[in-house]
Amino acid sequence: MDPKATRSELDRGLRAPVATIAAKYLYDALGSKLFEAICELPEYYPTRTEGSIFSTHLSDIARSTGRGATFIDLGAGNCAKAESLFHALQPTQYVPIDISVDFLRDAVERLRYRYPMIRMMGIGMDFSHSLELPQSVRREKRLFFYPGSSIGNFSPEEAAGLLGQVRDACGADGGLLIGVDLLKDKAVLDAAYDDAIGVTAAFNLNMLRHLNGLIDADFDVADWKHRGFFNEAMGRVEMHLEARRSVTVRWRDGMRHFHQGERIHTENSYKYTRHDFLQLLERAGFGTVRAWTDAREWFMVCHARAL
Ligand code: AVJ
Repeated sequence: MDPKATRSELDRGLRAPVATIAAKYLYDALGSKLFEAICELPEYYPTRTEGSIFSTHLSDIARSTGRGATFIDLGAGNCAKAESLFHALQPTQYVPIDISVDFLRDAVERLRYRYPMIRMMGIGMDFSHSLELPQSVRREKRLFFYPGSSIGNFSPEEAAGLLGQVRDACGADGGLLIGVDLLKDKAVLDAAYDDAIGVTAAFNLNMLRHLNGLIDADFDVADWKHRGFFNEAMGRVEMHLEARRSVTVRWRDGMRHFHQGERIHTENSYKYTRHDFLQLLERAGFGTVRAWTDAREWFMVCHARAL
């Protein structure tokens, strides 16, 4: 997204009745590193659980996806999840896409060196608006990879739209390998998004520093408090930043007064039942779906074929 579109998106969000900033703005270079740290937390089960599903069912998953794919990684981050599948899936081309461009560049450089036989093409792009890929991305055997339950950042309607776009970009012989977090006990979810040592709090608060840079805002991080909890009625975890006192914030194109306790909504992380997510894939136009889960049924990995 160009800087002007970013600025107007942020400006609109900050002026909305309930101030809302899209979760993708959590990921500047430091935000991406803080997310890596979250994945190491004992409370944050998704990364570990998804990893265990992949390692337990790797050969079955590889049989389902086939080998030699054009492997397109949505929100690749440090590319570690994709890399752990290279040996089993043997992709011919690897196309990691991420909004955090500098972070991605470093990761791709490392991989290029380690896997000279895989063609690599990193793309810095916000795919939430459009999934239009450059010509140089091979059309044949496209396997989109969307792990970690990042799909949960979108509402079910938006998710159906995005998955529909992925389906259209697949071509007849393509597919999607996706990880999704399943509904579970509130206490487990609350702890996962409000950990004891405050890494998730730092991750959330860092968004304000990122905004200061993007739109010349004057957020003082000390004025804000992290909130992260499961909203049972909505079936989603929510993150907010809550004003500790009454504060006035100025940025390039505007200003706003926040009263004490007022919140900026910074993330939704929708949780699904197995049935509802399979239905979503069907709604998006996918054909056959295979699904794998862990013993506690906390997380699910699906391979959905375009046809
Ligand atoms: C990267 C979107 C999957 O929703 O669990 C982690 C981000 N937010 N802790 C998630 C996140 C707070 C994460 N996703």
